[in-house]
Amino acid sequence: MILKRLFGSSIGRKILVATTGLLLIGFVIGHMLGNWNMFFGREEMNAYAAFLKSIPGPLWTARIGLIVVFVLHIILALKLKMENNAARPVSYKSKNTQRASLASRFMAQTGVLILAFVIYHLLHFTFGQIEPNGFALTDDKGRHDVYGMVIHSFKNPLIAASYIVAMFFLALHLVHAVQSMLQTFGLTGEQSRSTVDKVSVGFAVFIFAGYSAIPVAILSGLIR
Ligand code: HEM
Repeated sequence: MILKRLFGSSIGRKILVATTGLLLIGFVIGHMLGNWNMFFGREEMNAYAAFLKSIPGPLWTARIGLIVVFVLHIILALKLKMENNAARPVSYKSKNTQRASLASRFMAQTGVLILAFVIYHLLHFTFGQIEPNGFALTDDKGRHDVYGMVIHSFKNPLIAASYIVAMFFLALHLVHAVQSMLQTFGLTGEQSRSTVDKVSVGFAVFIFAGYSAIPVAILSGLIR
């Protein structure tokens, strides 16, 4: 059976980590584009958030799908890492560590930091536990004032900085994630290595800048 072959072999698990990673990248891009409504004003941002809540069927399908994909990605990636460590003799490991990039050496650590960020972020903007006053805001149409909530939060330099630092770790994770995913899907070779490196770094910088632009714009007074 296909599922048994995917979960039961190390190459199958590698394909699953790459596929779930690709789906998570899709979410990261989509969420960033949605967040850019902050640059168009209160009406656009709040209407966008209200629209998502007005379609509970697709919203909950996407939420549950996202949780399953996220959990699978973490478990399978950690399992692969443990298998690799167990299979590798110590001398080879220390030699390899010197050659490996910073991003590839810290995949597990940056992954755990992203998980910690997502929990903090959900407590913050979805459950309203970090800044209850901002979370309680409503706009003149009686909708949840997501625009006001985000501004209220990022006016606090500590909260804004915590997001920017988290986006840095997300970007670091993405550099190696994109390289590794393209390799698993057989899209890299000796000749394309430098192009793949440029694409992965360029994509990570784009995500870092695209997300960090919001706290930076609020801190600098560009969005009020
Ligand atoms: C500057 C960066 C970010 C901002 C301003 C931001 C903003 C928001 C806001 C306002 C919400 C709540 C939306 C609502 O209640 O209508 C939200 C939910 C969420 N965000 Fe972010 N976000 C950021 C970064 C991220 C990143 C990097 C990830 C993932 C790695 C992420 C994952 C999520 C998830 C999973 C939800 C819950 C979605 C749901 O309830 O269905 N966010 N975000």
